[in-house]
Amino acid sequence: MSKRSAGWWRSMLLTTLGFFSTVAGAQNLTDGQINTVSARLEEAALQSWELGTRSQTILELNATAYSVFSNTFLPPPEVIPSELADDNAMAPFFSIARQIVSNRTRLNNNTVGPQPLMPDGSAADPASNGVCVLIANWTGQDAGELDYEGAARDQLDYLLTRVPKTGDGAISHRVSQVQLWNDFVYMVPPFLAYYGVMTRNRTLVAESYNQIKLYRNYLRDDRQGMWQHILLGSSGNDPGFWSTGNGWAAAGMLRVLATIRQSEYANTFRNEQRDLGNWVREIHSSIYRHLDETNVFTNYADQPPTASGNFYDAASTALLAATVYRAALMLEQYTYLPYAERSRSTLSNSTSSPPSNETSTFDSYEHFTSDGWLRPVVNPHSYGQEGSESAEGQAFVVQMHAAWREWVQDGSKGANTAINVRSEKLIMGLALGAVLGLVL
Ligand SMILES: *[C@@H]1O[C@H](CO)[C@@H](O)[C@H](O)[C@H]1NC(C)=O
Ligand SMILES: *[C@@H]1O[C@H](CO)[C@@H](O)[C@H](O)[C@H]1NC(C)=O
Ligand SMILES: *[C@@H]1O[C@H](CO)[C@@H](O)[C@H](O)[C@H]1NC(C)=O
Ligand SMILES: *[C@@H]1O[C@H](CO)[C@@H](O)[C@H](O)[C@H]1NC(C)=O
Ligand SMILES: *[C@@H]1O[C@H](CO)[C@@H](O)[C@H](O)[C@H]1NC(C)=O
Ligand SMILES: *[C@@H]1O[C@H](CO)[C@@H](O)[C@H](O)[C@H]1NC(C)=O
Ligand SMILES: *[C@@H]1O[C@H](CO)[C@@H](O)[C@H](O)[C@H]1NC(C)=O
Ligand SMILES: *[C@@H]1O[C@H](CO)[C@@H](O)[C@H](O)[C@H]1NC(C)=O
Repeated sequence: MSKRSAGWWRSMLLTTLGFFSTVAGAQNLTDGQINTVSARLEEAALQSWELGTRSQTILELNATAYSVFSNTFLPPPEVIPSELADDNAMAPFFSIARQIVSNRTRLNNNTVGPQPLMPDGSAADPASNGVCVLIANWTGQDAGELDYEGAARDQLDYLLTRVPKTGDGAISHRVSQVQLWNDFVYMVPPFLAYYGVMTRNRTLVAESYNQIKLYRNYLRDDRQGMWQHILLGSSGNDPGFWSTGNGWAAAGMLRVLATIRQSEYANTFRNEQRDLGNWVREIHSSIYRHLDETNVFTNYADQPPTASGNFYDAASTALLAATVYRAALMLEQYTYLPYAERSRSTLSNSTSSPPSNETSTFDSYEHFTSDGWLRPVVNPHSYGQEGSESAEGQAFVVQMHAAWREWVQDGSKGANTAINVRSEKLIMGLALGAVLGLVL
């Protein structure tokens, strides 16, 4: 037996124990419950990035043909497919673009030329609506009465020519000073990539990657692997490892990767696509180390819930789980699936008997109010504080569900191949003990 290598023992044990590591009979949210969560999302999403995040969420759940995570080749169909048109699945999506583009000139005080889609102290957040506006243009919404194309171009030009930048070219997250927030990765690069693909502008696709690379250079902590939240600028820094921000970064990178993959550029940008996949894995491997036995992240992942000002946050937990299912589907990265499954089960868990699959209500849920608000959540308008009724938290639940649903449809691949890093250490210890026992 001593001839077997440590690697052999390790793989035998991982295979055996990995089999038991998924959550048996994991609790699931029903379609009706997801619609209740969606209704709360619709009520709460008012700020620029909340609308942008909601628009992407609508595609991921209800109009997957227009989501970059589907296998639709870009650009997407100009004519809305009948199964989507018949039940008006995209009406709330186009309503977001319509309101933003109708209001923008007035809200920007009749500015002409480069301007954000919505005025905001953030330079980045309004751009999160850019993909929605580009799809409204492409599919010819409102018969030319609204200038979707001009609105998208003005937003692009605003980012490229008006927003301040670092010396090496990272576009600021803020209007008033150069400051980098990890949230940026979800707000801007997916728009740059989509714009580039829609207009066959390779330079813009390259720029979407370049911005991510620059942001990672500044924000990733070499020791931790996670990304810091906010750096540079004269005030308002947050060097902590904000869990939601790490989720925004991973989700934004996956959207850019998917956009490139579904486009005519799929066979180019090879190294860039590989980097993006590795950088997603880097966030997962550094943040999941901090997930404790509650299966819910704390607001600052590396700090315990008892640390001053810290608390459990189900919103980032849902977003990160969504990115794990996406990484499994897109990149065959399976290591963190058991964690995502546990988090999803915990958030979906009823403290009384499991609901029937027909229910759309939340009676006795630890992680949802009876109205379907996720809890506990960080205040989405004050990232250091606990809050309630988070629009982005609602969106993250729906994104997690949509990604999980696709992963199940794809055969739940990888569900049994990976195991918890902490128990892996324990098992290695036990194995070593057993081997020594046999040898001696
Ligand atoms: C949850 O969904 C998975 C995948 O479809 C299924 O295997 C499992 O049995 C479901 N759990 C419950 C409690 O319905
Ligand atoms: C998805 O569609 C259902 C109706 O089929 C709707 O109730 C729900 O709000 C939609 N979800 C989102 C995120 O738009
Ligand atoms: C657009 O303006 C209308 C009318 O003032 C307002 O009700 C609506 O909330 C605005 N929507 C957005 C997204 O700005
Ligand atoms: C528009 O003008 C009003 C009144 O002067 C001002 O309060 C507001 O900040 C301006 N908005 C923008 C986006 O410049
Ligand atoms: C807007 O849509 C038109 C018509 O489909 C298309 O030719 C044009 O390239 C689109 N513009 C952008 C910026 O995507
Ligand atoms: C690509 O987009 C950038 C930014 O709008 C623009 O300056 C450049 O001319 C475009 N390139 C092509 C080939 O259209
Ligand atoms: C679900 O809730 C029940 C009852 O509170 C508890 O016993 C169980 O451990 C929970 N399961 C998960 C996955 O959190
Ligand atoms: C609920 O489960 C039954 C039996 O498995 C199935 O026929 C029905 O379609 C399900 N309903 C929903 C809303 O999933």
